[in-house]
Amino acid sequence: MSFPEHAASPGHAVATHAGAAPEIDLMTEDDLDAVTWLEERVQPFPWRRALFADSLRASHAAWVLRRAGALRGFMLILPSPGETHLLNIAVTPAQWGQGFGKRLLRFGMDWSARQGAKRMFLETRPSNERARALYRHLGFTEIGLRKAYYPAHDGREDGLVLCRGLEDLLA
Ligand SMILES: CC(C)(COP(=O)(O)OP(=O)(O)OC[C@H]1O[C@@H](n2cnc3c(N)ncnc32)[C@H](O)[C@@H]1OP(=O)(O)O)[C@@H](O)C(=O)NCCC(=O)NCCS
Repeated sequence: MSFPEHAASPGHAVATHAGAAPEIDLMTEDDLDAVTWLEERVQPFPWRRALFADSLRASHAAWVLRRAGALRGFMLILPSPGETHLLNIAVTPAQWGQGFGKRLLRFGMDWSARQGAKRMFLETRPSNERARALYRHLGFTEIGLRKAYYPAHDGREDGLVLCRGLEDLLA
């Protein structure tokens, strides 16, 4: 299934470079090599291919963002009753700052709201300024801290817990 650009983010225009419009597709096993390649380029402690495969098999919600046929981003969401949890999101570094991250996450928020989720949760490293800016711009607020949540090169790093209510998205 493929969602045209306008369906990814109804009522939420995001400027991108001119050219082919990005499309958001359901992630399949065929995407896993490209997804893993991207993950390994942007994360200090990347998910392994097997973890992405497990996530697909567990029926987590997962999408890729393509532009002109090339994978430029991905996102995985864990649905549970009344809420969803962002598991992972990434955009290829050469495309950072073009609105692809916002487009993907806004798509996931809209999808979550349509599933009946009232809230969306996520964790991020306090040091991940770019991700924190993305989440802030989409209305997430910090609600807690998980101590020593992430591996780090010099020990462990805390995880910020963020949440956003979704009910305004259905209005
Ligand atoms: C976090 C990530 C997904 C954002 O993707 P992106 O496509 O660059 O994000 P966007 O272009 O939609 O920009 C979102 C916000 O990031 C910030 N941003 C954009 N370009 C930036 C830059 N050059 N420097 C700093 N912040 C920037 C802005 O606040 C922007 O919002 P604005 O356009 O309203 O000002 C991407 O940087 C990424 O893949 N990072 C590595 C993986 C990762 O950290 N994932 C999150 C794990 S919690």
